[in-house]
Amino acid sequence: MMQPWFPDAKLGIFIHYGIYAVEGIPESWSLFSGQVTPEVYWSQLDGFTASAYDPDEWADLFVKAGAKYAVLTTKHHDGVALWDTKAEGRSVVRDTPAGRDLLTPYVDALRAHDLKVGFYFSQLDWAHPDYASIRPTKSHYTDFSNRFAFPPDGEESPERWGNFIRFHRQQLDELCSEFGDVDLLWFDGDWERDPEQWNFPELKERITAKQPNVIFNSRMLGYGDYATPEQGQPIIAPDSPWEFCMTVNDSWGYQKADFNEKSVRRLVRIFAETIGMGGNLLLDVGPTADGQITPIQQERLLGLGRWTHKHAEAIYGSVAGLPAGLFYGASTLSKDRETLYLHQFDVPREYVNARGIRNNVKRVTVLGTGEELAFKKPVTMEWTGVPGDLEIQIPDGFTPDPDATVYKVELEGPLELLMTKGRS
Ligand code: GLC
Repeated sequence: MMQPWFPDAKLGIFIHYGIYAVEGIPESWSLFSGQVTPEVYWSQLDGFTASAYDPDEWADLFVKAGAKYAVLTTKHHDGVALWDTKAEGRSVVRDTPAGRDLLTPYVDALRAHDLKVGFYFSQLDWAHPDYASIRPTKSHYTDFSNRFAFPPDGEESPERWGNFIRFHRQQLDELCSEFGDVDLLWFDGDWERDPEQWNFPELKERITAKQPNVIFNSRMLGYGDYATPEQGQPIIAPDSPWEFCMTVNDSWGYQKADFNEKSVRRLVRIFAETIGMGGNLLLDVGPTADGQITPIQQERLLGLGRWTHKHAEAIYGSVAGLPAGLFYGASTLSKDRETLYLHQFDVPREYVNARGIRNNVKRVTVLGTGEELAFKKPVTMEWTGVPGDLEIQIPDGFTPDPDATVYKVELEGPLELLMTKGRS
């Protein structure tokens, strides 16, 4: 069920941590796609040490970035569990030199840093012997050639699928009973089966009996609590609550050949635009096999953190701001809608303009420095049918924020827009 903390949190950190970091190749997909042979893929088990794994350090970094929650891959599509699962299948405890449960220290570190606990869990499991036992009947899948996902034509086995579902439930039971409160279950990999085959209503009941306050993301084929647009920033806000998940570079897990980290300024902009449309950002990092977040990704999170901490008031607990076209930047509103925050990405010239606002304005300041700015806001001239523009004066020598300047506009009363064509 959706919980109030989630839309207030705005920023979460996504962590794809698994054996795929050993060779620095795509998480699970390199096995599925044949980029490497199964032998090479599974040989990574031997190199997964987690020798520098320190989730306290992670949590400290996430807090510095301004995040309020984190989501860790407890099991990706390759089926390797990061905890000591009693179910069959591989785990870092049984099958890698790491040799220990990595989830308990993670949840402890998050809670100690007052961060909400999120578990990513792949529904599909390309390594389980009974996973590739049936085919979907209703989904868009037409290519059943992948042997990790589907049985050969005419060889479906509902019985083996039943085994897989028992295994799937067992692992989720463990995740929901051995690690204390789980705030968020972030499912993935729902697409190779129909909702009836997964039996999501039963799954939800089973999980909420153990974790009554857990939030489910959308990858439950219609049974989740919020939408998860991925990698492409939405142009129009989804109708339900939502969270945009995106990588700092181009890869979810650590990839040795990916140096395409977005700049801090780019991350700030994407984040501001996302919250300005009422969404959260779940920003992904890929730690190396020993458990470290790379220096460049740390630098990006800290850079984002400089901006989020300075502008906290405009971020946490805010709601979506002005509709597109009224201000050329992003904007957020305080919950009581009496304070408008204008996030400007470019260097201002002479004045900053916002349109469509009917309210009188009490005061304009620069968030984070407190500098008060002069402004003009003609009262709405009723006979014109349109409100006067807000014009914030930019003094000579004004120093904008290096990533995005936020103007705090205190309104008389809750924001009232006048979206009109003017007189005919
Ligand atoms: C995709 C991919 C996966 C990644 C996920 C994150 O669905 O299968 O590799 O974990 O997106 O959103």
